[in-house]
Amino acid sequence: MNRAVLGVLVSGRGSNLQAILDAIQAERLRAKIGVVISDTPGALALKRVAGFDIATTVIERKKFADRRSFEQAIAAELQLHHVELVVLAGFMRILSSEFIGHFPGRIMNIHPALLPAFPGLDAQAQAVRYGVKVSGCTVHFVDEGVDTGPIILQEAVPVLDGDDEHSLAERILHVEHKLYPRAIGLFCEGRLRTEGRRVIITEKR
Ligand code: GAR
Repeated sequence: MNRAVLGVLVSGRGSNLQAILDAIQAERLRAKIGVVISDTPGALALKRVAGFDIATTVIERKKFADRRSFEQAIAAELQLHHVELVVLAGFMRILSSEFIGHFPGRIMNIHPALLPAFPGLDAQAQAVRYGVKVSGCTVHFVDEGVDTGPIILQEAVPVLDGDDEHSLAERILHVEHKLYPRAIGLFCEGRLRTEGRRVIITEKR
């Protein structure tokens, strides 16, 4: 089986990128990172792949006249590297339907809450403020909405009485690092079938 080519979009720390990289290195994930694209120069995420044979590119929004040309530059870079699955790993921008149309059913995101609860920014702080006893993380396909696409995997994490947004974020992040490589692996094995809003995980062939 060939390795699916991933294009990873990042904005910052890149701990999920690291988890994906580790899973590939350990042969737990049969995939290949074709390119890492950051919208932020100097992002720690970029340093994580230094020393590997992985292309990296910085594409900054402010270097482009409008969002459309910015996104076109990202799409062109992904296509140049023959990316089959676009992986948003702490990429803090909303993508337009035009961009999504370039990669139908082939863009994944991880969100630090149990969607549809607490979409958008600062999901962990939203959860603490609301007072939920359980939160978690969600891997989903990206559609035109904000964190609204079909859900692939979710895992719950307890919210403890003493939690603030930071302690909760850390507990959730630990689970994200297992869940994201697993979801990507299911895609790479051709085991995800989307029926309307539902993503069916098919048996291993
Ligand atoms: C992760 O917690 C991820 O779920 C979240 O940003 C963090 C990125 O961390 N993403 C979002 O909130 C997207 N709406 P990382 O850069 O260390 O992977």
